Amino acid sequence: MRTDPVLEVHLPEDHAARSLAADARRGLAATPKSLPPKWFYDARGSELFEQITRLPEYYPTRAEREILAARATEIATVTGAHTLVELGSGSSEKTRLLLDALRAGGTLAQVVVLDVSESALRDASRALGAEYPQAQVTGVVGDFTEHLGLLPGEPARLVAFLGGTIGNLLPDERAKFLASVREVLKPGEWLLLGTDLVKDPATLIRAYDDAAGVTAEFNRNVLHVLNRELGADFAVDSFDHVSHWNPDAEWIEMRLRSTVSQRVHIEALVLDVEFAAGEEMLTEVSAKFRRPGVTEELAAAGFALTHWWTDAEDRFALSLARAD
Ligand code: AVJ
Repeated sequence: MRTDPVLEVHLPEDHAARSLAADARRGLAATPKSLPPKWFYDARGSELFEQITRLPEYYPTRAEREILAARATEIATVTGAHTLVELGSGSSEKTRLLLDALRAGGTLAQVVVLDVSESALRDASRALGAEYPQAQVTGVVGDFTEHLGLLPGEPARLVAFLGGTIGNLLPDERAKFLASVREVLKPGEWLLLGTDLVKDPATLIRAYDDAAGVTAEFNRNVLHVLNRELGADFAVDSFDHVSHWNPDAEWIEMRLRSTVSQRVHIEALVLDVEFAAGEEMLTEVSAKFRRPGVTEELAAAGFALTHWWTDAEDRFALSLARAD
């Protein structure tokens, strides 16, 4: 019989505050200025992201759901996984498609969800525990780029990293991340990876610059986070949202463009930062992939790609890879 959800906290109380301060100090001193995308996701940012997933222009969520709905049973059969490890809060409908298939296949014993947000995890673990009484649910509070060594779970494990979030990492961070996932797995365990695909730039740019302005608000939200958490005085409305396709790197860049020349004070950093009129700060890269690149990056980390599935319009891919 399963027990109640367990929550494991691997982050010190002040982890978020400290790493935000360090990231802001580093990024605002750099040329060009940049901020890491993980700081979008406070309560408001998470709500805005939820809205983004329902926008007509933002196809990745729907495309990935389409693939999962079509392939979940096959994924369950091929992997025979006893544990689903989801990197991300596990609150999504997509997690349930996988869990339903693993349950129907009779192998589901454990669910592990990893997220930086303790409150999101608490809610998700409780809900999953109630919906999947045959599974032991564990929530791990941690950052997937730093705390993978601590993942529990009975083999065979299936690690799901969905949504195309791997595209928000820079190439060297991606390599490190995939290697760290490989390191926690035993040979024969599995990685399910969602990647958005290279396509015509107009479609990509629109997906990150919707007509309703939700993505613009999401982008600017990082300034609200800095104002609140670091006592900064960003005049949020003096920054324009920019969605730019970088054809060499094959990624979308979200930027914030200062419309005026201005100085921003960041109290917690005892720092003043100057923005020139028209100066752009990089707030997110969202890399788009091709099959050979994904195969190669997985192989470099010690995974063999066994399945590659796309939606009917070839916009998004789901890769299933086996640890060598
Ligand atoms: C976090 C990867 C799902 O890069 O597409 C959405 C975040 N940024 N719109 C992405 C995002 C702007 C998103 N993912």
